[in-house]
Order: sequence, then structure tokens, then C-alpha cells
Amino acid sequence: MMQESQYLMESNEESHRLDIKINSALIEKQALWAGIQPGMRVADMGCGPGRITSILSHLVQPLGSVVGVDGSPQRLDYAASHYGREGIEFVQRDITKPLHDLGGFDFIWVRFVLEYYLSKSFEIVKNISECLEPGGILCLMDLDHNPLNYYGTSDRLDRTFRKIISELQGKIDFDPYAGKKLYSFLYDLGYEDIDVEVSIHKVIFGQIDDLDSFNMMKKIEVAPQKISFQYDEYEGGYEEFYKEAQSFFSDKRRFTYTPLISCRGKKPS
Ligand SMILES: C[S@@+](CC[C@H](N)C(=O)[O-])C[C@H]1O[C@@H](n2cnc3c(N)ncnc32)[C@H](O)[C@@H]1O
Repeated sequence: MMQESQYLMESNEESHRLDIKINSALIEKQALWAGIQPGMRVADMGCGPGRITSILSHLVQPLGSVVGVDGSPQRLDYAASHYGREGIEFVQRDITKPLHDLGGFDFIWVRFVLEYYLSKSFEIVKNISECLEPGGILCLMDLDHNPLNYYGTSDRLDRTFRKIISELQGKIDFDPYAGKKLYSFLYDLGYEDIDVEVSIHKVIFGQIDDLDSFNMMKKIEVAPQKISFQYDEYEGGYEEFYKEAQSFFSDKRRFTYTPLISCRGKKPS
């Protein structure tokens, strides 16, 4: 089983954080672009709190079904209580381990999971690909330069953000550049009809809304703690860093953006 402590963003509020971030109309558009169709049997690997699983389930009706797969019992409980209904099943599995017992799928969706596996992401994609029927569709989505495109920080805040990300890469296998690798994964596995879309996941300028502010500050609360980060440039330690980060995110002059890479392909027959 996946250990919850291994997941970088683990916290009591993680299900809620992931749930409220979802833009249903956008997910629907992306899944249709990837080729989801009524009647398909779908897997949502690393499904989190299940909102996307539920959206995918609407898109495969009539006659389709979706399995939401996650390693976290907390997220799965949330998913089952908020989105459980006929045609959706939530199961606990570690996606780094064999998944054959789940049966074959026509469409597999993997969004914002590979970024937590810098050294293993290709092995995970290979493992997931084994559950796909020949001719089935694999859709991978992840961010690039996450979260490194911030303008308007002080020099020390910029250095500190970069140092945190660099330590997250070395210590807990976080990959800030996961998005740009996705195409090569499908290419190397011999997938056909590969298509790639590059879009902006998030751009923030001017007044920040409550949702983005909550999400940004939650990342700053949770991620550095996981590696017991030392705030060498801040005499007042974490509290002083947190205040400076908060004032950066609430400053209307600040500019941040994060590219999203979506990649889909068909498993060779
Ligand atoms: C950032 S969330 C993404 C959730 C959802 N896919 C989305 O796009 O909002 C990553 C999810 O992957 C799950 N996860 C991470 N490693 C996993 C593993 N080895 N096996 C199963 N689930 C895993 C985490 O528990 C978490 O719910």
C-alpha cells in the first residue's frame, strides 16, 4: 500500500483543497479532447477526492463505468461520500504496484500524479499502460515549471522558493518539470495517434481570489515542512518567510503562471 506520509501534499485539508480547485467545464472539455466516449470503462488513477472521477462518469453514460484509484483512505472516504453512485467505484491501490486485478480499461486518465515521482514516473506509466486494452486511450496531464514562474518576489524569497523546490526534488522525488516528459512516455511505449496540448493551468495577476490564495498558502504550509526546510535567509524562520510569501501573493503587482501539458495516445493493438 502507498504510505500517506509519502505524498508531498498530505494534510487534513487535502481532500477539500483538491476538490474545490476543480473547474468541471474545463475537465469535461479536456476529457472529450482526449477521446472519452459513452460506454467506455474508465480508470482515474490518483483520483484524489473523486470530483473528476464523477465528471468522467457522466461523460461515459450510457453504459460506461469509472474506477477511481487512489492510495489514500482519507481521500477515498471523501470520494465515496461525496461522489459515490452507480457506475462509479473507488478502490485503494498503490499505482506503483501491479494493477491487473482491476481488469482492462478503454480509457485511463492520470492527472497531477506523476509530478510526485521524479525517478519513477515512466515506470508508473508503463505499469498503468498494462491495464489498458489494445486500442484504449491513455491521457496524461501534468504541470511544467511548477511552481517556479513567479515574478515580483524579493531576491531572497525567489532564492528560497527555488531552494525548497530543489530540496523537494532530491529528498522526496518531486518533479517540477513532469509535464514536458509526458509526450516521450507515450512515444517510447509505441502509442499511436499521440496528441499534445499546452495550455495555462493558472495565471494570477491583480487581485488574487480566495480560492487561489488558499491553494498557494496551503502549498507553502505543507510542502516545506515535509522536508524540515531550514529558512537560512530568514532570521525569524518559517513565520517570517510565511509573512513575506503571503504579502507577495496578495500584492496586486505579482504575476504567476503555470503551463499545463496534456498528452493523449492510443495503445497499439
Ligand atoms: C495532486 S492529487 C491529484 C488528484 C486528482 N487527480 C486531480 O487532478 O485533482 C494526487 C493524488 O495522487 C494520489 N497518489 C499519489 N501517489 C499515489 C500512489 N502511489 N498510488 C495511488 N495514489 C497515489 C494521492 O493520494 C493524491 O490523491
